[in-house]
This record gives sequence, structure tokens and C-alpha cells, in this order.
Amino acid sequence: MTTDEFVDVDPPFLFPDYPITRLRAPLEPPVVLPRGWFHHQRGPAFGRVRVLPGDNDLTTGHPGVPIGQRIILRGRVLDSDGRGVPGTLIEIWQANAAGRYVDRADPGYFPLDPNFTGAGRTLTDNGGNYRFTTIKPAAYPGAPGTWYRPAHIHVSLFGPSLGHRLITQCYFEGDPLIAGDPIARSIPDPRALDRLVAKFSFDQQYAGGSDSAMVYDWDIVLRGPATTPVEG
Ligand SMILES: [Fe+2]
Repeated sequence: MTTDEFVDVDPPFLFPDYPITRLRAPLEPPVVLPRGWFHHQRGPAFGRVRVLPGDNDLTTGHPGVPIGQRIILRGRVLDSDGRGVPGTLIEIWQANAAGRYVDRADPGYFPLDPNFTGAGRTLTDNGGNYRFTTIKPAAYPGAPGTWYRPAHIHVSLFGPSLGHRLITQCYFEGDPLIAGDPIARSIPDPRALDRLVAKFSFDQQYAGGSDSAMVYDWDIVLRGPATTPVEG
């Protein structure tokens, strides 16, 4: 991939309307690591605990049922030719249905849900497919006295080596807050931003059952002209 391909896909390090970038944007050009140990370490990295089948259901594992709209977020991890990428570790973390994270850094404006932690993970199958069951997160203030962030889920992908890492955010189709969000607007090309928006599906095969859930489809493209942008 050439440097030019990144120009309209990924946001710049410094985007003044997104205040934190004023503090974290590097002042010097990035250092290119020499090819060697780092590039050849195999991934994904799982930590000490194996990925289990139920790790992709954020609505379970607590004494009760979490509050909020239950959703299924599903899709495929694809390469530049549209082929599914198997064995990719996808980790997600998110606010609850009130807009609160289980995180000391959260300002605590909104209530916690004792039945929702907001973190999950899964591995793509042989076709590159993934699936999460969770609660639709609520919008929350991007910074005190500023703007409301659109509802979003944070997403991390680990590919076949430690050098293959993508961290981004997933939004939801039809959310008017996306257009006014400095973090979303830091992506220069609107077409690239649209690739971060999960599309509502009328394929509601669970509607009416005890597992009833709204379905959203979101594919993640790792390389090529339709690459999914990074976003932090
Ligand atoms: Fe967030």
C-alpha cells in the first residue's frame, strides 16, 4: 500500500476540532521501524485467557438482563479483493444504554448498569465472518460543555502478525450526531466515514423471540481503496 492511499482514508494526527489531538499529535515525523522482530511476531495476541464462544455476547455473564435495545452487529473482515480473512481477533468496548462506560475515566454523568460491562471479543470464522450480540450504546458528551458523540462501538482488530492492527469506531446508520462529531469529521473523505457506519438490516430473523434483536451489518476492509479508516 502506498502512502497516497492513506490520504483520504485515515484522519490526520492533528485535527484541532478534536481537542485531544492537540495534545497527542506527534511533533516530529513518525519513525519507521526497521523490518525485523516486531514484524515477524505472529498474531493475534490472546492474553492468558482463551477466546470462548460466548465472549461475543455482551448481554450475558451477569445475574440479570441489561437495559437497552438489544442489537446484533455482524459482518465480515475482508482483504482488498473482497476475500474473508479468517482467524482475526476482534475486540469491542462500548458505553451502556445510558452512555456510561465501566471505566474510571468516565465522568459519571450517567448510571452504570449492573448487568452490562461493555466488552467482548471473537475470532472471525473461515469465511471471515464475525458476530456480536450487545446493547445499542447511547450518545454521551465528547467533552464537558461541548458536543454529544454519536452512538458508537470501539473496535480493535489483530491480524496474523502484531504489525497488523486496526483500531477504529463503528457508528449506526441514521444517527444525526455523526455529521456534527469532530472525531467522525476528522476523516477527510465522506465515503471513508460511511464505511464506519453499520447499516440497519431488515433481516430480523430474531424478531419476536426471547432473543429478539435489531440487526446491523458492518464489514471491515483491511486493505485497498475501500479500506476501513482508523479512528481513535
Ligand atoms: Fe467512546
